[in-house]
This record gives sequence, structure tokens and C-alpha cells, in this order.
Amino acid sequence: MKKKKSNIKKTHRKNFKKSRNRTFNRKYYSKEDIFLSRMASILQLSKGETKHIFCQRARTTIRLNNLKGDNQKTYRVLTQTKGWELQKINGFKDTYFVNNKDKSEVSQTDEYRDGKFYIQDLASILSIYILDPQENEKILDICAAPGSKTNLISSMTNNKANIVANDIDTPRVGKLNNVLNQFGSKNVKVTNVNGNIFGGTYPNHFDRVLLDAPCSGEGRVYLVTPKPLRFWSIKKVNSMVNTQKELLESAFNTLKIGGTLIYSTCTLEPDENENVVSYLLNKYENVRLEEIEFVNSLDKLLTKNIKSGITKWSGNLYHPEVRKSVRIIPSPEMMGFYITKITKR
Ligand SMILES: C[S@@+](CC[C@H](N)C(=O)[O-])C[C@H]1O[C@@H](n2cnc3c(N)ncnc32)[C@H](O)[C@@H]1O
Repeated sequence: MKKKKSNIKKTHRKNFKKSRNRTFNRKYYSKEDIFLSRMASILQLSKGETKHIFCQRARTTIRLNNLKGDNQKTYRVLTQTKGWELQKINGFKDTYFVNNKDKSEVSQTDEYRDGKFYIQDLASILSIYILDPQENEKILDICAAPGSKTNLISSMTNNKANIVANDIDTPRVGKLNNVLNQFGSKNVKVTNVNGNIFGGTYPNHFDRVLLDAPCSGEGRVYLVTPKPLRFWSIKKVNSMVNTQKELLESAFNTLKIGGTLIYSTCTLEPDENENVVSYLLNKYENVRLEEIEFVNSLDKLLTKNIKSGITKWSGNLYHPEVRKSVRIIPSPEMMGFYITKITKR
């Protein structure tokens, strides 16, 4: 009898050890692992290649600002007096990579404080070239703060368009007002409402609408900084989608027939990009997606990182038209971005 008891004890001890080892050997995935696996699957790259992409340092990009001075004079001051090495970016007016200065250096100058140039990622600039704003048009920037794209719209239209710049977030609207003042935007009416009201309140009203939507921000991730993924989670990705759909519907409804709408995000998530655009295409018959021909005229340095929209991912199928949108793979020249050009028939 005694012997049997001790055998039972032994078996218990063995099972305990086995289960403890199983617990200790279990692999825990870090947030970075989860992020990289997801990105590798979206970008169709190995995890190593994907990691390399998110560890590249962005080049400093500036655009000279005609609203606050003579661009030729600013160019001369920056290159000759200050010794900046400015590399012209073909296809973009007065836009340069600064080869020998980082962002913090260029921002600590009188010329920057006086609004003579703006520091802006090229992908963000590209979205406004695709919007192609014109003088005398009514233009809505539905999620505008802090205002880098609104200011570029003002600059490209020589302050002669009627712009409404809106944002839901009151402190960010304060920053938007500061940017518009510092960089000389005029003719801009700033509003502070939920962007989902424009479609119902001003149907068929604007010639052009920019919806630079709130998103999970994957295109901006730089894994070399401390805690680079503190704002990212799959929960966050999922939580953005309804707002994005609601804002896109509002943006489309407030667009005039024949008008142009840009939907852009700085994320690579198909759920927040192709999925949202497919929702609009499936719901409204008069939505048309346009080919973005402008990108074909750019230098190879840029086009090698510009891909078409994807029509399936992780078991989800998207509307076949979304292949006309562009996905920008993060590189030193441009952050990760997604742009769709929509017109209303
Ligand atoms: C990607 S940022 C816009 C960046 C801006 N376009 C620029 O280039 O400087 C997204 C903005 O959307 C705003 N936003 C989020 N939800 C919104 C809503 N429902 N209506 C209007 N704005 C919203 C956020 O406050 C944030 O400022």
C-alpha cells in the first residue's frame, strides 16, 4: 500500500515538471514580432527584409514656400550662405532633399521660423500633387491638423482657392491655426467639427476634397527609436475602420459631381485602405477610381517603392478597382503611405 502511494507522488511530480517545462518553453511574441510578421505578410517580403525597411532613417525633405518670400532668394540663402546641400526632386516644384542636415537642424533656423520653407515628407507632398488643387476652387481638407497639406494647397493655388480646413481635435486646431499663420496661408476657413457632418450639411458642394484620414500610422514606424510601437496595436487598426468609412462617405457626399477626392493614410493596413475604399465602391454607383498617372513620371528612386493597391489579403477580397490606388513602401525618400484618387460621376 505504501509503495503505491509513493508511485502516485512520483507520477504527480513528473507531470508537474513536464507542465512547468512546457510553460517555460512556450514562445512569447513581442509586439515587434507581431508587427513585423503582419507587415511582412502585407508587403510579401521576408521578416528580415521587412525589418530593414522599418529601420531606415528618413531623409530631410523641404519645400520652399512661395507664400512667405521669393523662393529663388531662399534657395540662394540656404545653399550659398548656409552651405546646405539641396538635391532637387524631379517632378516637384521647389522641393529638395537636404543631404547634409537633419530635420532638427533645419528647423532651428530663422528661415524656418519665418515660414520660408516647410519640412514635409515627400509622400505627404505627393498626395497634394495628385489632388491637383486649382485657383478659385472650393476645397475641403476634412482632417487638416496640423496643416502641412492645407498649407501646400494654399501654396499651389497662390492663396486663391477657397479652402475649408477642419479637424475634430481642438488642441490640434490650435496647431493648425499656428501653421497657417507661420507659413502664410490665406483664404482658409478653419472649422472644428466631426468631419462626418460635411456630407449631410453640404452635399455636392466642394470641387476637391482631401481626406487624410486618422489611421494606425504604420508608415511612420521607425524601429530604431525607443518604444517605436507604443501607439500601434491590432486593436487600434480595427478601431479605425468605422471612422474611416464614415469620413469617406461624408467626403464623397460633399464632393461636387465631376469633383476629385483624395483618400490617403500613412498606414499599410489593407483593412484601413483597400477595404475602406471598397466599401465606398460597393455602396455608391457613381464612385469612380482614377489611375494615378502622375507617379509614372517620377524618378526610379521613387517609383521603385510605389506599388499598386492590393485586391486580396489574409482571406479578404477587395473591389478589383482598388488596384488603381497606390501604396508607398517606406524608404528613406518617402514614409509608408496609401493614396486613392476618386471622382464622382
Ligand atoms: C493624419 S492626421 C491629419 C494630418 C494633416 N492632414 C496634415 O497633413 O497635417 C488625421 C487628423 O484627423 C483628425 N480626426 C480624427 N477623427 C476625425 C473626425 N471624425 N473628424 C475630423 N477630424 C478627425 C485627427 O485629429 C488628426 O488631426
